[in-house]
Amino acid sequence: MVDLHSIRNTEVEKRAVRDSAEHAGAKEVYLIHEPMAAAIGIGIDVEEPMGNMIIDIGGGTSEIAVIALGGIVCDQSIRVAGDGFTNDIWDYMRRQHNILIGERSAERIKIEVGSALPELENPPTDFAVHGRDLMTGIPKRSPFRIRRLHMHSISPYRKWKKRSSRHLK
Ligand SMILES: Nc1ncnc2c1ncn2[C@@H]1O[C@H](COP(=O)(O)OP(=O)(O)O)[C@@H](O)[C@H]1O
Ligand SMILES: [Mg+2]
Repeated sequence: MVDLHSIRNTEVEKRAVRDSAEHAGAKEVYLIHEPMAAAIGIGIDVEEPMGNMIIDIGGGTSEIAVIALGGIVCDQSIRVAGDGFTNDIWDYMRRQHNILIGERSAERIKIEVGSALPELENPPTDFAVHGRDLMTGIPKRSPFRIRRLHMHSISPYRKWKKRSSRHLK
């Protein structure tokens, strides 16, 4: 059995994972760091004598690692990740457009039309947003449409970016 674990996991946490895998009947248990699994998963030759930077954006944290010669050269885990982006979109819709949307809708906007780049070669098609008008409290019947949501245009995101770039230097 192969189990993935975060770079941050303590020896006690690793022991717990190993024990439960053995308890589940695994004869041999291997623990692999998540960035290493991600690198192998996208087809990077992790053994080559050249560094590859992997950024694995999760829900609460992003794991950044440089991998070379089959090992992790250096790594950093930062608290800037997907759930924060979802929250920023929710906040942006509320502040800029006076529309209250659900968390699931905010996540769908992120997945369907969210973009880290200001210009895209093939921008996504229009995405209909349903929510409640904060002024009237009435559900917005005519869907409010967005084509592309550039994350830089969302102010809280700039704060996140500033914080994360400090870690990336
Ligand atoms: N297609 C996608 N595009 C952008 N973000 C996505 C996509 N699919 C999932 N996410 C986001 O990824 C995050 C979860 O990442 P995941 O790797 O499952 O979590 P973790 O590794 O922290 O357990 C959530 O914020 C979710 O909204
Ligand atoms: Mg993950």
